[in-house]
Order: sequence, then C-alpha cells, then structure tokens
Amino acid sequence: MFHQYELKYGYGDLEPTIDALTMETHYSKHLATYTKKLNEFAQKAGIEDMGITKILESLYTIKDEKLRTDIRNNGGGFYNHNLYFSIIGPNGGGEPSGELGEKMKETFGSFQSFKDQISELALCQFGSGYAWLSVTPKKELVLSKTCNQDNPISLGTGNTPILNIDVWEHAYYLKYKNMRVDYVNNFFNIIDWSAVEGYYQKACSK
Ligand SMILES: [Fe+2]
Repeated sequence: MFHQYELKYGYGDLEPTIDALTMETHYSKHLATYTKKLNEFAQKAGIEDMGITKILESLYTIKDEKLRTDIRNNGGGFYNHNLYFSIIGPNGGGEPSGELGEKMKETFGSFQSFKDQISELALCQFGSGYAWLSVTPKKELVLSKTCNQDNPISLGTGNTPILNIDVWEHAYYLKYKNMRVDYVNNFFNIIDWSAVEGYYQKACSK
C-alpha cells in the first residue's frame, strides 16, 4: 500500500511563493489521485509490495502495455510529487552548504550557474513535466528535464533524483497564470536545502 508524503507544513505556509489553494489542490487532489490510482494498478499487476523506486526501474517487466503505461504515469506522479513536497518548506531558500554546496560549485561553477541552468530546463520543458537535479551512479550531479510524469528512474538513466521543479500548470497557474518564469524564479525561495542535502547523502551512500 502506497501512502502519500505527509506534509510538514500547512497549505498556506509557502505563501507568497505558492498560494494556499494551489498547495491544497496539488496535494489533496493531484497527489492523492496519483496515489489512489497507483495502488489500484499496482495491485492489478501484483506488484503492490514492491517499493516505488523498484517499480519505476523495472517497468519493462510489466507485459500488459496499458497497465505498464498506467503504472508509469501514476507511479511517476506518486514518486515525483512525494519528492517535490518534501524538498520545499516555509524555511527554505538560500544556498546549500556542506558537501552538496561544494559539489554544486565543482560541477556548475557556482550556485548561480546551477540556478540558471535548471531554470532554463524548467522553462524550456514544452508542456507538462519537471526539471531535475540528480546524482549519477558515479556520484556526479546532473541536470535534466522530463515530460509528463516521467522521471530519471522510469527513463532508466540509473540516476537518483534529489530535487525537482514541477512545471505542470497545476503547480502554478492559479497564481502565476502563464508566467512560468516567475514561478520558477520564486521557487528558489522555498527549496529546503537541508532536505535536498539529505537526499544527496543518501544517493552517495548507495
Ligand atoms: Fe504536480
């Protein structure tokens, strides 16, 4: 049985970056629906006891094409949103310190350069999708973007996501309308770098 991530903050706590109604709808409707459907489809496929990462890594083993697509989309929606809601918070913003901060400077040159590059990916993603910061099996940082509810795991990259920016319109449209650029720019005010650092350490210890 899959359970959605339990929020550590209230719907209104990310204002003014994300308004309370967007948060409530995103969490209690969108993520709740992905979770419910994942449970239904995983049960149908007999894989309800597998972890979500394992399921997304081995989608190719699901022979029924429709069921495979349903699990790819809803399992992705479940994983992607659980990550998203866990790496933002009311005390977010600033820059990462510690080993992640160092690795970012080594990889991208500076935090500003990282921010510019991932923002560009978030903005040029045509239609719905995400921009990602992931850790490769060689412990390097890498940026990417994906469509719909795909992610670096379901695409078989072998990389471990540690941060994502949801650029589906449901993530920002109520407040920002067509101005995805403003949402992406403001998103850096709510990134909880201690959470991202936690994911980074976990990915590096694999
Ligand atoms: Fe979303």
